[in-house]
Amino acid sequence: MASITIRNLNGKTKKWLRVRAAQNGRSMEEEARLLFDQLQADENSNIATPAESGPPISNASLQIEPVSMTGQTDEVAERLRGSIAGTGSEILAGKQVLLVITGGIAAYKCLEFIRRLRDRGASIKTVLTKSAAEFITPLSIGALTAERVYCDLFSRDDEHDVGHIRLSREADIIVVAPATANFMAKMAHGLADDLASTIMLATNKPVLLAPAMNPLMWQHPSTRRNRQILANDGLYIIGPGTGEMAESGESGTGRLLEPIEIVKAVEILLDDRPKPLAGMRAIVTSGPTREAIDPVRYLSNHSSGKQGHAIASALAHAGADVTLVSGPVSIPDPEYVSVVHVETAVEMKQAVDAALPADIAIFVAAVADWRPANSADDKIKKAKGEDAPAITLIENPDILKSIGTLNENRPALVIGFAAETRNLIKNGRAKLKRKGADWILANDVSADAGVMGGDLNTIRLISIDGIEEWPTAKKQQVASRLITKIVEFFEKESIEI
Ligand code: CTP
Repeated sequence: MASITIRNLNGKTKKWLRVRAAQNGRSMEEEARLLFDQLQADENSNIATPAESGPPISNASLQIEPVSMTGQTDEVAERLRGSIAGTGSEILAGKQVLLVITGGIAAYKCLEFIRRLRDRGASIKTVLTKSAAEFITPLSIGALTAERVYCDLFSRDDEHDVGHIRLSREADIIVVAPATANFMAKMAHGLADDLASTIMLATNKPVLLAPAMNPLMWQHPSTRRNRQILANDGLYIIGPGTGEMAESGESGTGRLLEPIEIVKAVEILLDDRPKPLAGMRAIVTSGPTREAIDPVRYLSNHSSGKQGHAIASALAHAGADVTLVSGPVSIPDPEYVSVVHVETAVEMKQAVDAALPADIAIFVAAVADWRPANSADDKIKKAKGEDAPAITLIENPDILKSIGTLNENRPALVIGFAAETRNLIKNGRAKLKRKGADWILANDVSADAGVMGGDLNTIRLISIDGIEEWPTAKKQQVASRLITKIVEFFEKESIEI
């Protein structure tokens, strides 16, 4: 029997597969196998839909507009990008979705969207604009929703009790899919000249827009302006996706996202389950430290803070009360986290000590092991004929070790990283023991691996129970996976109690 070796694929395909696998948090082999499965499933089906049993859509592929007056949109975007999305089919059971379909060729995808919502126990009422009815019939939608389809603002049957107000209020969420450029423009300017647009003005419920249009229309300054207005008004906007358009020969950004991706966003917005780390306090260190040689020079390293900040953010989204002690980095402070900015290892230790007690402490910072014994008050000058100055170094406090080996006030879960360029497991195991950590997340920081400063990370989780190998993934996904482990740890602890 023939076999395919990933190593033998051409370079471009290999790179594409690596990125795709990383985005989905899978190994390259697993990704390739799922792609073949999906191809086969698609061939067996007349409608090209991602099979329910096929690869889950990566949260990382979803985009939600980042601006909102309430800050909610940022939170959802962060969760979609892979912190604690935690979608589950039970979230939609008994929920009411009002689906507004506006006139675009992608309207046909709504049938699949409705089916998936109903599979999850949601009930769906639908409003069609006049132009949507040119693309899809009320009959097919009514058959799938098992509800009547609403089209007319001045319908005698529906408006005897001001039906547009009722429709806009009894839903748990309103989803507009596809949302055309025209409908977005109407919403941005508060027009209400048909049933769909009147409902949008009359609602006090969350609204999720899934735009779909020609790429040039999406790029147009008017559409960009309107999108920004809607995001500022607190609406959630998901997509559009990039790829081939329905019009022949057109491609770019403008595709309606796949129905399953829109379902996931709905689940996230309606997820009112209690947060798993609510009531817990966490401390995270992140970034490098800087150890002054003189007022203008320092010793430091290439740490970007991306991994530590992603972990702090994911902990906060899981409900923990988080103090992030950050060395100097150029990325923004994560939301919903108290950030203490420090420069040196000594300051970092003081900030960590001040943040105790905590239930969880995670030491992600690349702390400088040594600092100059004396930092000059003035800039050190070159003097003709003199040798280069010698810098005497003294050891910095080991912050992780000081917390991991505490007798009193030790957090229930102490996690360290091991930044290694060789003997990853051996050195990681030694650090686990020496520093009194419960887990060590060992990663290869040699220049080739591109971890320091990069967006991806490959982790080996070392504990007394053994070693877990995690596939290469985005740092947000590593954070997400770590949160899942932490939640499991505390669940086990509470069962044992
Ligand atoms: N760490 C710390 N304080 C230090 C040094 C390291 O808290 N002064 C923490 C790091 O945040 C990380 C773990 O200890 O969680 C391991 O850091 P690493 O740089 O890999 O190891 P070192 O202890 O510095 O040892 P070495 O440089 O010899 O590998």
